[in-house]
Amino acid sequence: MAKILLGVSGGIAAYKAVEFVRLATSAGHSVRVLMTASARKFVGPDTFEGILGAPVLTSEFEKDPMRGTFPGEPLPEHEPIGHLAVAESADVYLIAPASANTIAKLATGQADSILTTAFLAFDGPRLVAPAMNERMYLSETTVSNLARLKEIGVEVIDPGEGRLASKGESGVGRLPEPAELLERVEAALDEERTRDLAGLRVLVTAGGTREGIDPVRYIGNRSSGRMGLALAGRAKKRGAEVTVICANVNLPAPAGVKRVDVESTVDLARACREQFPAHDLLLMAAAPADFTVADTSSEKLSRTGGEFTLTLVPTEDILASLAANRIEGQTVVGFAAQHGGDAIGRARHKLEKKGADMIVLNDVSDKTIGFDSSENAVTLITTGGETEVPRAPKTEIADRIIDRAVEIRKGS
Ligand SMILES: Cc1cc2nc3c(=O)[nH]c(=O)nc-3n(C[C@H](O)[C@H](O)[C@H](O)COP(=O)(O)O)c2cc1C
Repeated sequence: MAKILLGVSGGIAAYKAVEFVRLATSAGHSVRVLMTASARKFVGPDTFEGILGAPVLTSEFEKDPMRGTFPGEPLPEHEPIGHLAVAESADVYLIAPASANTIAKLATGQADSILTTAFLAFDGPRLVAPAMNERMYLSETTVSNLARLKEIGVEVIDPGEGRLASKGESGVGRLPEPAELLERVEAALDEERTRDLAGLRVLVTAGGTREGIDPVRYIGNRSSGRMGLALAGRAKKRGAEVTVICANVNLPAPAGVKRVDVESTVDLARACREQFPAHDLLLMAAAPADFTVADTSSEKLSRTGGEFTLTLVPTEDILASLAANRIEGQTVVGFAAQHGGDAIGRARHKLEKKGADMIVLNDVSDKTIGFDSSENAVTLITTGGETEVPRAPKTEIADRIIDRAVEIRKGS
């Protein structure tokens, strides 16, 4: 059972927070409540205290009689600073209802109340459940504040549609029912408990390189970066510290992941060399070019009427050189996009030639998976054998690839 910190801000839906506390405590969780000054206009702290048997904190300057503990825990001997102690001991922090005003403060790092100060100090899973009038919810500022919260890894629980508190109005902005809020909190806690990659530093490459012909033209490939981003996102969710090197990826990186952007194969090689020493596991999902243009023109080439010949020269084999220079404890996973034929044989050859620990084989002859699709199916090839991972969303494929890489690191 978990220690849930509940932040209540000033909105009509504050009455639903009371029901949330009743449900959460009946389910065996212990709860502490933090309220903003405006929230107290909608529901009194006594109501929560009656259900919880614990004081509600309404100001960052008041002393917490429970010294940051949750119901049932022994009191520490010293008097800690209330907002820091309660944030340190909680497992999860839910803000429900989250008013437009509080959302704006959370998105910009303001700390002018017990609720907002504890939010900054809390480093576990944070969930924010907006509830307000539709026009406030859809206003440009609230939309961008919520986007910012998502960007910094906060889970936003989308409001429902229906009748709103303001007379005669309906639309989007209703706080979800307390049972749904509790489900979301429990799901976030489950995810937090499966942080099996905590302490691991993972470097992922994503996308496809571009080799310049002239200032406006290039030779590229069809890789969208989706598989690399899925790997980065899953590794991050599972607790790893993640860096993703993106070669021409037009998609956002997952929250909390460090992103480095590159364009050509030379840039990618340089970024990999810089980043790899600080990482334990390399997942080389980007598609670098095998050849680059021998003589990139500094001016835009014009039609001459005759034939045009482009000379291509081989690029550096990034995977092989990183694998050759790795230090003890570093694991290297390469990817091979093969087109039909003896794909497994060729991928196995690549495994040996490049000195990688695993090759993820992606048969790109099936156009419904791979490159730009949200699904994939791969074969994991190691010296020990082959594992088929059947067609699934790329996030699931990412988990299976990471699982196998973790097994290799453990020596199995
Ligand atoms: C009757 C009434 C209902 C309100 N309901 C909401 C609401 O549902 N959502 C919201 O974001 N603001 C609502 N407000 C406005 C907030 O209470 C106001 O912005 C307040 O400053 C929020 O403070 P806080 O974020 O510190 O709790 C309401 C105001 C009044 C007077």
